[in-house]
Amino acid sequence: MRSLLRIFFVAISIGSGCLFIADVGVEELGHLEMVGAIVHQLTRKLTDGQIQDSAFAPYFVDHTAGVFPTAASGFPWTAASMQVKGDPIADLTEDLAAEQKARVTYDNILRLSDDPDVNDVIKFLREREIVHFQRFGEAIELLRRKLNQRNVYCMNPAIDL
Ligand SMILES: [Fe+2]
Repeated sequence: MRSLLRIFFVAISIGSGCLFIADVGVEELGHLEMVGAIVHQLTRKLTDGQIQDSAFAPYFVDHTAGVFPTAASGFPWTAASMQVKGDPIADLTEDLAAEQKARVTYDNILRLSDDPDVNDVIKFLREREIVHFQRFGEAIELLRRKLNQRNVYCMNPAIDL
């Protein structure tokens, strides 16, 4: 969710030169649906005993088996968890880090999960995070070329170009 919204805001900030990154945001929305579907499928038929004996119990008290954007640690999603600085280089660099953090999260899920149906989806999502990382790298390279064309450094291209 954080990445999805940040990507859209950054795409708007940068303008037409890098609008292809908005496509990444659209894809992230699809990933949110896929992860939500996995959570729903894994929790919809839990028995009371399974819930009581699991780490899922506190979540169940608050949300039953409804899909609610929450970190594995239990921290609910909030807009305060994201940042848009208004400097495309800074924001795209944060996007790069977000994609790598998502990849590591998927790596960690794969270390813990023994469900092949879940793992197939997680492996797909992990691959897409790598592609997203590459796309953001391309966007930064495009911006760097713009900076080099004017031979101006240490500026905010969103304001100064
Ligand atoms: Fe991503």
